Amino acid sequence: MIILISAYDENRVIGNNDKLPWNLPEETNYFKQVINNKVVIVGYKTYSYIKDIVKFDSGYVLSRKQHEWNTANLEITDDVNSLILKYKGNENKDIYVLGGQETYETFIDYADELIISHIKGEHKGDKYFPIWDSYLFKNQKTIIDNNNFTTIMYSK
Ligand SMILES: NC(=O)c1ccc[n+]([C@@H]2O[C@H](COP(=O)([O-])OP(=O)(O)OC[C@H]3O[C@@H](n4cnc5c(N)ncnc54)[C@H](OP(=O)(O)O)[C@@H]3O)[C@@H](O)[C@H]2O)c1
Repeated sequence: MIILISAYDENRVIGNNDKLPWNLPEETNYFKQVINNKVVIVGYKTYSYIKDIVKFDSGYVLSRKQHEWNTANLEITDDVNSLILKYKGNENKDIYVLGGQETYETFIDYADELIISHIKGEHKGDKYFPIWDSYLFKNQKTIIDNNNFTTIMYSK
């Protein structure tokens, strides 16, 4: 299954100046817990910003360029079609799409599941989560609900 995991605010803002626009340790910890030991896909820009704070166990970094690469557990790729063929609708294999904007835009139409932390309030931002059709995701389960954010899992 292709699972997009993200946190966005009331205007769908996900980032500002290459960073998260909020500081919510509980949300970050939840994110780290979910992706622990999972196969991931992350855009090259997001990877560059978070590689020192997030442990990636295995998966792919999306890029169209040649980069010097010595991260053994992650493979650099631009072969989006192969990833979609391998994981979309496959109940035996999950891959977690970690963003950012361009990467979410690449995979949103193929998502089997979304895990969204809806951050309360409006924030200054320059990156957004794509618009998506909530009616395609019939099942919703609230995972966390507190004063700062509500995390909901959406599945088809
Ligand atoms: N709130 C959240 O949940 C969340 C999560 C993640 C990130 N973010 C935020 O999102 C922002 C970064 O987003 P972004 O859109 O600038 O960058 P991004 O999606 O992280 O990375 C973009 C890069 O990924 C590669 N790429 C993307 N799509 C590709 C495709 N189809 N094929 C091959 N390569 C592809 C390209 O790398 P090359 O240039 O190397 O070719 C592209 O420049 C930051 O502000 C970050 O903080 C927020």
